[in-house]
Amino acid sequence: MLRQTIIFSFFVLTLIISLTSYAGGESTYKSICIACHASGMNGAPKFQNNLAWAPIIKEGKVHVITEAYNGVRKMPAKGGRPDLTLEDFSEALIYMVNSSGGNWSKPTEQEYIQIRNNILKLSSKRKPA
Ligand code: HEC
Repeated sequence: MLRQTIIFSFFVLTLIISLTSYAGGESTYKSICIACHASGMNGAPKFQNNLAWAPIIKEGKVHVITEAYNGVRKMPAKGGRPDLTLEDFSEALIYMVNSSGGNWSKPTEQEYIQIRNNILKLSSKRKPA
C-alpha cells in the first residue's frame, strides 16, 4: 500500500511539474531572444515595436522562420544556441511576432516540413568555413 502511494505521488508530482514548466514561446523568448530583441541591439527588431516588425511579418511565417533559424545578417543562427530546436525557436519567434502587431499561429506539420527543406537548401549553398 505504501509503495503504491509513493508511486502514485511521484506520478502526480511529475505531471504537475511538466504542466507548469511549459510556457511555450514566452519562456524561450525570455531566456534567449530577450538579450538582443528587448533593446534592439545591433539593429534587432525590438520586442513590441510594431513598426519594426511590420515588414518582417509581411514576408510570411515560413520564410521568416527559415531565415532567422538559419541566421540572417547580424542575427545569429538559432539565436546563438546550437541546441535550440526548430519548434522552440519558432514558438519564441511567434511569441515576439504576436506581441508586435502580428497574428501568427503555430506552424502546421506541413509548414515545418517546408521550413526544414528550405533550411537544408540554404545550408547546402553555404560556403565551407
Ligand atoms: C545575439 C543577439 C540576438 C539574439 C540572442 C537573437 N537575435 Fe534575432 N536578431 C538579432 C539581430 C541583430 C537582428 C537583425 C538582423 C539584421 O537585419 O541585421 C535579428 C533579427 C531577427 C529576426 C528578423 C529577421 C529578418 O528576416 O529580418 C527574427 C525573426 C529574429 N531575429 C528572431 C529571433 C528569435 C526567435 C530569437 C530567440 C530564439 C532571436 N532572434 C535571438 C539579434 C539576435
